[in-house]
Amino acid sequence: MRILGIAGSLRKASLNRQLLSALASLAPEGCEVEQRDISGIPVYDQDLEDEGMPTAVESLKEACAQSDGLLLVSPEYNQGVPGPLKNAIDWMSRPPADIGRVFRGRPVAITGATPGPNGTRAAQYAWLPTFRGLGLQLWFGGQLYVPGATNALGDSGRFNDEKLEERARQFMSGFADFIRVQSVGQVQ
Ligand code: FNR
Repeated sequence: MRILGIAGSLRKASLNRQLLSALASLAPEGCEVEQRDISGIPVYDQDLEDEGMPTAVESLKEACAQSDGLLLVSPEYNQGVPGPLKNAIDWMSRPPADIGRVFRGRPVAITGATPGPNGTRAAQYAWLPTFRGLGLQLWFGGQLYVPGATNALGDSGRFNDEKLEERARQFMSGFADFIRVQSVGQVQ
């Protein structure tokens, strides 16, 4: 099983990139997380699209289309979705004829990290209309919020907090189980 993990920040020391790395290391056996970010993606402009899809967008679209599930690790900006990650997802939804291949029916899990106290809860809820619009299958079975992430996450892509690490491990195994159930459903 291959999960595409996208960290929604361009920042070198991104807490969300560190969270993705920590989650990848906790994935259950037989489940590999490909870690990507959103670098190289310009601000969406239909004139630019008409000239041809940027390579970074094509590459993310293909990675998503070939994955068994999508793990979005999203910062929270002003209690909503962060513009740069929304921009990347918007690019990936182009042209509309590709939405079926790239997104529709694909299992998705959402999580995120913040130095603040609320763990990106507001941003995670704010993603829901977009998931619905793209026809993604959101996994509702687990929730993972990472507040105080400057202390909770170590530079080496590990959790500093054992309880949080255990919650994250369960989050990853729950999502992998969901993907397995979904793919069995598709075969039948
Ligand atoms: C933030 N940040 C933030 N944090 C939060 O918990 N709730 C919020 O509403 C906001 N709003 C917000 C707006 C803008 C414009 C910025 C730049 C930042 C702080 C944010 O969580 C913090 O910068 C994280 O470190 C961003 O994630 P990365 O880049 O570390 O992955």
